[in-house]
Amino acid sequence: MGARKRSASPACAVFLVGFMGAGKTSVGRTLGQRLNWIFEDLDDRIQEREGRTIAEIFRDSGELEFRRAEHGALRQLIEDLRGRGKVVALGGGAFVQSSNSALLKASGAKTVFLDAPVEELWKRCCQQAGETERPLLQSREQFDALHRARRKVYLKASERIDTGGRSIEAVADDVIQRLGLKKLRVSQATRRN
Ligand code: S3P
Repeated sequence: MGARKRSASPACAVFLVGFMGAGKTSVGRTLGQRLNWIFEDLDDRIQEREGRTIAEIFRDSGELEFRRAEHGALRQLIEDLRGRGKVVALGGGAFVQSSNSALLKASGAKTVFLDAPVEELWKRCCQQAGETERPLLQSREQFDALHRARRKVYLKASERIDTGGRSIEAVADDVIQRLGLKKLRVSQATRRN
């Protein structure tokens, strides 16, 4: 008999994509709570696997090495998917790497692009600057140019949801409705964990 298929069924995993400041982590956490699904931030897995922070990886080894680590972590995360629902927040650059979007496509999971005007993304990132260290948050000009280049790739996600001027809860509810996601009963959640 062949190897057991380990990828999740399409409805079981949702990956949030979008630029820095799009709210992927906040919306993902809320979605996890609303649905009783597990929430995971890919950046956390990278940091755990590497034993250093994202900022340290960028500073000591450069962006290319970070992208290698990111790809390895995503591959592992997808391999680890089980029947239980999981919401994943990807870092802003993950989906734009074609090797990563190919992995996601092959997994059958849904991808949701959280979109917002670049002015708002910039404002959110500046507000979070004290708590979240973002190596690619540099000048406003660089931010705009990177956003422009990446947005066309984000648009290839299965769904696009506007987050401009909206609360985290409203966006999470929109994701649930748009994808027709179902809340897991606690007994199911425990059994499949
Ligand atoms: C990155 C975004 C960050 C993090 C890393 C690289 C990017 O995640 O993965 O600093 O390339 O845009 P957030 O989008 O959660 O800030």
